[in-house]
Amino acid sequence: MTVQTELANVAPSKLSVNAITKRFRTRGTEVHALDRVSLDIAEGEFVCLLGPSGCGKSTLLNIVAGLDSADEGTIFTDGKLIDGPGRDRMVMFQESALFPWLDVIDNVMFGLKLKPGLTNPERREVAHFYLKLVGLEKFMRANIHELSGGMKQRVALARALAPNPRVLLMDEPFAALDALTREQLYGDLQRIQQQRQKTIVFVTHNVREAVCLGDRVVLFSPHPGRIQEQFKITLPRPRDINSVDLAEHASEITKALKGHMKSDTEVAE
Ligand SMILES: Nc1ncnc2c1ncn2[C@@H]1O[C@H](COP(=O)(O)OP(=O)(O)O)[C@@H](O)[C@H]1O
Ligand SMILES: [Mg+2]
Repeated sequence: MTVQTELANVAPSKLSVNAITKRFRTRGTEVHALDRVSLDIAEGEFVCLLGPSGCGKSTLLNIVAGLDSADEGTIFTDGKLIDGPGRDRMVMFQESALFPWLDVIDNVMFGLKLKPGLTNPERREVAHFYLKLVGLEKFMRANIHELSGGMKQRVALARALAPNPRVLLMDEPFAALDALTREQLYGDLQRIQQQRQKTIVFVTHNVREAVCLGDRVVLFSPHPGRIQEQFKITLPRPRDINSVDLAEHASEITKALKGHMKSDTEVAE
């Protein structure tokens, strides 16, 4: 496969989650993290999983990533049963988990080592393409410790995108960043999703963030983790997190959330 065909390939993926149940057992106690969670995600759809801490969002994302397994239920991408991690589903976490001993471009190239059929110069070209996409072209040779938190998450995003996964799984990737940096990344992520047509599952406990990014917001409730309600978001893109329209949608979802929530759980508006 040439670099050009690799970069031109923007085929998205359909994801099907069927009756996923997961319990954690630790020292005699049992947590019912997910209870028969089913979800169909269309090709190229941006879905936000929203809910208070402990409602099973990360557990579901890890199971879709193949990093954890379900007690019951199945997950398919394009009709193929998931039974472990794969290059078709890349994950991005709150902490960027970059390698501090590698510079920026080598961090992005690292994930491409798994990709057969590309020579080293071709991998470099692919990494360069994605670093440019996230606005870090000028920092390719920088050390990781020289970067701000936002820049590190951009590198992590480029690294997740570089193997050209059809599904991108993101677990509160911007939660540790300041508000202004986050807003820039919301814009970038929307642009990249439209250009590369990724199917994205994005975990957040922030209602506005979910409305800003999602084509659909899936509201979870805890103990046991279940899907409570779903909201289609049809606001035009790119969306501004500070817009009045967005705030109105967010307040509708916040109301639903508060209605389902116990008083000891918290969620950001
Ligand atoms: N490895 C684990 N061992 C034991 N309990 C866990 C483990 N991972 C998650 N849990 C529990 O499962 C529930 C769901 O957790 P999680 O998926 O992390 O929620 P969220 O991401 O929505 O905050 C919580 O009660 C959490 O304490
Ligand atoms: Mg979590």
